Amino acid sequence: MRSKLEWRQARVAAVCNVASDVRQIDFALEGRLPRFDPGSHVNFQTQISGAPVTRTYSCVPTPHPGQIRVAVKLHEKSRGGSQFMWTLAPGDPITMSLPENRFELSWRAPYYLLLAGGIGITPIYGMALALQARGVPFRLVYGARSKALMAYADDILAQLGTSVALRDGEQEEFIDVAGEIAALPDNGELYVCGPIPMLNAVKAAWESAGRPPGRLRYEVFGDSGAFAEDAFEVTVANRGVTVSVRPDQSLLEALMAAGVDMIYDCQRGECGLCAVDVVDRTGEIDHRDVFFSAEEKEEGKRMCACVSRLASGRATIDVGYRP
Ligand SMILES: Cc1cc2nc3c(=O)[nH]c(=O)nc-3n(C[C@H](O)[C@H](O)[C@H](O)COP(=O)(O)OP(=O)(O)OC[C@H]3O[C@@H](n4cnc5c(N)ncnc54)[C@H](O)[C@@H]3O)c2cc1C
Ligand code: FES
Repeated sequence: MRSKLEWRQARVAAVCNVASDVRQIDFALEGRLPRFDPGSHVNFQTQISGAPVTRTYSCVPTPHPGQIRVAVKLHEKSRGGSQFMWTLAPGDPITMSLPENRFELSWRAPYYLLLAGGIGITPIYGMALALQARGVPFRLVYGARSKALMAYADDILAQLGTSVALRDGEQEEFIDVAGEIAALPDNGELYVCGPIPMLNAVKAAWESAGRPPGRLRYEVFGDSGAFAEDAFEVTVANRGVTVSVRPDQSLLEALMAAGVDMIYDCQRGECGLCAVDVVDRTGEIDHRDVFFSAEEKEEGKRMCACVSRLASGRATIDVGYRP
């Protein structure tokens, strides 16, 4: 149950590496490409073990009108999506969606703070250029484990100059989240994209600074957790259904494959629609969502089935009103 995507045929127009583990890929789509805003993403039908699987990538700024540019990080523990994207060469055909946007700039604030961690720069880069083009004041802080892993770092510095600060982990430089928030004017807004630990730190710092929740916006890529994926077992209370969740499967996928009707939308741990109650469990929950608060995660009574999983072991869950 999610919004309908409009799919198009496309061909790869160009490919090049923009960091040691990030490949930029340009796509020329059939038909007219509607105008889209910074923060948009597109979906691709990738092939994983011969089966079509959707993977999502943010649109990055391109000088070529009518084309879509994405930057794909090659995932160390990939089930195959990013590896597939890295096999693409100029001329290759692919099915992709038109852009959709769930991470839009509000344009209502007089000042913006943009924080990017690693590949999280992809939606943020276009936002920074758009703010600069409209003369809206902003500061972009972009951090990664090393400069070699920072896609577009030199372009961003050249284009945005003093509005940008890079933080190179290899040089012991880190984003001072609390300090950046303290320096943000009262009615300023914060946009952040990066790994789950970074988003959790930003959410906690924003809350403890007493800032309004509506002025913090974030996007997660739903691809990082605290534990490596292991198999686990889940029994659905009062349904007589027990499902084994494979390491390469989400709990949501396993429940739906077993015939449990689930409600979901974002599939990246943001909306909370897929949340289930955890009645009992032997294993620890690897909360990979940004929907529940730190206290709720600590309590361990609910989890988002689309991204969160048990580190191992088994649990009994209640899917509530669902048939
Ligand atoms: C809105 C949006 C925008 C995005 N933009 C970008 C972008 O611009 N650039 C980019 O590189 N990526 C982006 N992503 C992430 C991208 O869609 C893929 O998730 C990413 O490429 C990894 O896919 P994969 O198949 O290679 O790896 P996966 O197999 O999905 O593995 C990726 C990570 O997920 C973990 N994982 C493995 N199996 C599971 C499982 N069963 N359940 C949960 N986690 C698991 C692995 O530990 C690994 O660390 C975006 C995602 C979203 C939702
Ligand atoms: S579907 Fe949105 S949090 Fe799971």
